[in-house]
Amino acid sequence: MCENLASVDDFEKHAYSVLPKNALDYYRSGAGAQTTLADNKRAFSRYKLRPRILRDVSRRDLSTTVLGEKVAIPFGIAPTAMQRMANPEGELANVRAAQAMGTVYILSTLATSSIEEVAQAAPDCTKWFQLYIFKDRSVTRDLVSRAERAGFKALVLTVDAPVFGIRQADVRNGFNLPAHLRLANFTGASLNKFDDKADGSKLTAYVASLFDATLNWDDIKWLKTITKLPIILKGILTAEDAILAADAQIDGVVVSNHGARQLDGTFATIDVLEEIVRAVDNRVEVYLDGGIRSGTDVFKALALGAKMVFLGRPALWGLAHSGEEGVKKMLRIVRNEFDTALALSGCTNIGEIRRCMVYCESKL
Ligand SMILES: Cc1cc2nc3c(=O)[nH]c(=O)nc-3n(C[C@H](O)[C@H](O)[C@H](O)COP(=O)(O)O)c2cc1C
Repeated sequence: MCENLASVDDFEKHAYSVLPKNALDYYRSGAGAQTTLADNKRAFSRYKLRPRILRDVSRRDLSTTVLGEKVAIPFGIAPTAMQRMANPEGELANVRAAQAMGTVYILSTLATSSIEEVAQAAPDCTKWFQLYIFKDRSVTRDLVSRAERAGFKALVLTVDAPVFGIRQADVRNGFNLPAHLRLANFTGASLNKFDDKADGSKLTAYVASLFDATLNWDDIKWLKTITKLPIILKGILTAEDAILAADAQIDGVVVSNHGARQLDGTFATIDVLEEIVRAVDNRVEVYLDGGIRSGTDVFKALALGAKMVFLGRPALWGLAHSGEEGVKKMLRIVRNEFDTALALSGCTNIGEIRRCMVYCESKL
């Protein structure tokens, strides 16, 4: 094991050398020709920093507040499905790492550890639950009440996946959950595993048969009637939809293209962040995920108006390296990079990050 890992990219390279092909391809893929997958990362390099100097940055505070809760760092863990393919403790290792770092962990509906197991593993972590809406509403209703009972602080409704994007590697691999694993939030073979006989990606077949593609704004109203938890919509990419979300009185939006796994050919998330921040005009909190791989990426997103950002794949690479320790190590690297970027930009806390500290020549 290479011990001198110095960046998220180092963790990614390491993961490529240890993960089985079925899991690795599932984790790393984007949809279609993977144009957006590359753009999500590349786009950050078009944003240039404009650092201020001589401002006494000897003492710095990286904390912020999301949905009224204090977190130690402005980046958390995005929901990614089936984390036990990366490490035997999967989601439990990941949420413990988030707890140790004082940040938010978002648990996927399609997790290989249950809501209750995750709650027990990290009782002090700020946990949000990522929700998919099933055709059978009693399944969703049950997930919501379990998340509430287990002390999760918000529901993150994924709105960019009425059907699943086409991930070519998964089609070729006939992607399936390894036989020893189950989708732990469910009992019964029709919900907790995939159909081995389905063509192509077994996950895509699962989604097509169980998730509700009729999902629309009325369902947001319905969701609000069955929960008191704050609701965040994940997968907003236009000002138009961000305004509808604010009008629907939800609490936050995640500017996200699902890690480029849904509609290939969309904008990189960082390129649409500002239009969305402007459109909602502080009516909802705006978060971002997609392509964040360093502390300067975090800084740029915050300067453009994100309240907080989330990392998906980097945590999987951390898990593949050494479980909880690996995720902590990865997060510490990003924390150190962000702290350094803050200081070298002349800021001592997040409130001092200004829009004028980032410049983008062209979005194309
Ligand atoms: C392997 C993998 C599985 C994912 N599973 C889910 C999921 O179950 N629910 C969801 O809302 N988003 C899911 N996502 C999207 C992430 O929440 C997030 O939007 C994305 O990973 C952020 O991009 P990044 O990986 O470049 O950081 C998944 C992403 C990946 C890479």
